[in-house]
Amino acid sequence: MEALNSISNSSCSFYLLALLLLFANAVILANAETHNHQFVVQETPVKRLCKTQNSITVNGQLPGPTLEVNNGDTLVINVVNKARYNVTIHWHGVRQMRTGWADGPEFITQCPIRPGGSYTYKFTIQGQEGTLWWHAHSSWLRATVYGALVIRPKEGDSYPFTKPKRETPILLGEWWDANPIDVVRQATKTGASPNVSDAYTINGQPGDLYNCSSKDTVIVPVDSGETNLLRVINAALNQQLFFTVANHKLTVVGADASYVKPFTTSVLMLGPGQTTDVLITADQPPARYYIAARAYASAQGAPFDNTTTTAILEYKTAPCPAKGVSAKPVVPTLPAFNDTATATNFTSSFRSFKKVQVPTDIDESLFVTVGLGLNKCPSGASSQNCQGPNGTRFTASMNNVSFVLPSNFSLLQAHQQGIPGVFTTDFPVAPPVKFDYTGNVSQSLWQPLSGTKVYKLKYGATVQVVLQGTSIFTAENHPIHLHGYDFYIVAEGFGNFNPKTDTAKFNLVDPPLRNTASLPVKGWSVIRFVADNPGVWIMHCHLDVHIGWGLAMAFIVDNGVGQLESLEHPPPDLPVC
Ligand code: C2O
Repeated sequence: MEALNSISNSSCSFYLLALLLLFANAVILANAETHNHQFVVQETPVKRLCKTQNSITVNGQLPGPTLEVNNGDTLVINVVNKARYNVTIHWHGVRQMRTGWADGPEFITQCPIRPGGSYTYKFTIQGQEGTLWWHAHSSWLRATVYGALVIRPKEGDSYPFTKPKRETPILLGEWWDANPIDVVRQATKTGASPNVSDAYTINGQPGDLYNCSSKDTVIVPVDSGETNLLRVINAALNQQLFFTVANHKLTVVGADASYVKPFTTSVLMLGPGQTTDVLITADQPPARYYIAARAYASAQGAPFDNTTTTAILEYKTAPCPAKGVSAKPVVPTLPAFNDTATATNFTSSFRSFKKVQVPTDIDESLFVTVGLGLNKCPSGASSQNCQGPNGTRFTASMNNVSFVLPSNFSLLQAHQQGIPGVFTTDFPVAPPVKFDYTGNVSQSLWQPLSGTKVYKLKYGATVQVVLQGTSIFTAENHPIHLHGYDFYIVAEGFGNFNPKTDTAKFNLVDPPLRNTASLPVKGWSVIRFVADNPGVWIMHCHLDVHIGWGLAMAFIVDNGVGQLESLEHPPPDLPVC
């Protein structure tokens, strides 16, 4: 319960509710529970960086409420949209077995919840333990509409590590001194890159290093000697982040709600969408230590928010700051913004906790290029609308297809009801032209096609996807997220993937199971999964700026045999377009 106390925005009633739920947990031993919640999406005045914004929040909270469940529990969340924007909520990383209708991405698995409307998401957590999160999946609303989803072991089960004294979700966010929806709308109009953020946040607060922020800096209390669990979530919109705690070692024990072989590090790197669970032991002299995050910016020359967000790890026995003298917390060192070596060293340290069953006989093998692009100024458009580099408009693609969301039906509805004309099933298994992906790419290859192209998978197919970064316009790291599945990352590397030499490097013994892969800058990642969850599942870059430009595709996974291998029926309150 201490964990809740340390979140500056937790309200008393939420605390009580959590207490009651905990009590109920203890009484109904070993029984899966159903948790009912109401999420009211609403405009709320939020003061950060000396100014007040009317932000879209859930229940008036920023970050939104933390959901705490046990593996096997069911969540029933009634989302009521009292805001002036369309909204949907995505439960990032939840497998959603057969419950694709509850996944949430706008126009993929549902039409948006209109202002004044509501929709109830119902799903069960199956075989996942650790930290996930939830966020809006419509335009850039997730800038302020997000929260943690904590999944503990079933009653009677335990963590595969010593039980931590306290647990604290650490949500890394991104803040604009503007309405984020206006920021993205402006960029869509001009074709230029959207403005970078003005601050990063930890549990909703920028911290001491920004103007007007100090008094609200988040405090994470510790007692000397205890070992605590930090559940770190990168909920930023557009930035990979380094994370550290001054003078303390971090032992990584989980990521994306799967346990990993513990390893110790002083710095984490998380792409948006990724979570990392770390143990931290209070083994330093009682004092105050900064918890800090700032950008890992891998794209050369591209603008980014170079500020640093902080919270404070505070030993309860730390001497009180004397009057008039501020006891400054110990300052950590963070890697340089472009420190790809540190980022790579971190991401390549992950192994599954145990030996795992990696699919080996591959039925479907895809090679997918991932990168940016530039569209020529459309004829008839004014120069106002073509403010990208050299009078172009920014775009992005996978296998040269820039993904376009449908607008009249969700893909899942169109698939399930057989509505023609909403998508085509010709997403290519490889890019149309082979080229030196990470070299100097000819400008004739910079402009992708656009379309709503999906790739069909039979139920149970074993799938390998080689994600290949390109240096079209500029190379950078991309956090690639797949809905509806966890996948094994069997290998990653720099340069162009070479099946002749790189296949030998595959880890088919204990590769990490993730829902978001950190595709190295000018490099590749190979992922594998079994298509055992029928539905429509988007795979996209989790930098919101890139989703808007079309860095996405979708898989359609057919039903298998019988009810247990088939998508459930759509809920009666599924929003219509
Ligand atoms: Cu975290 Cu498609 O989302």
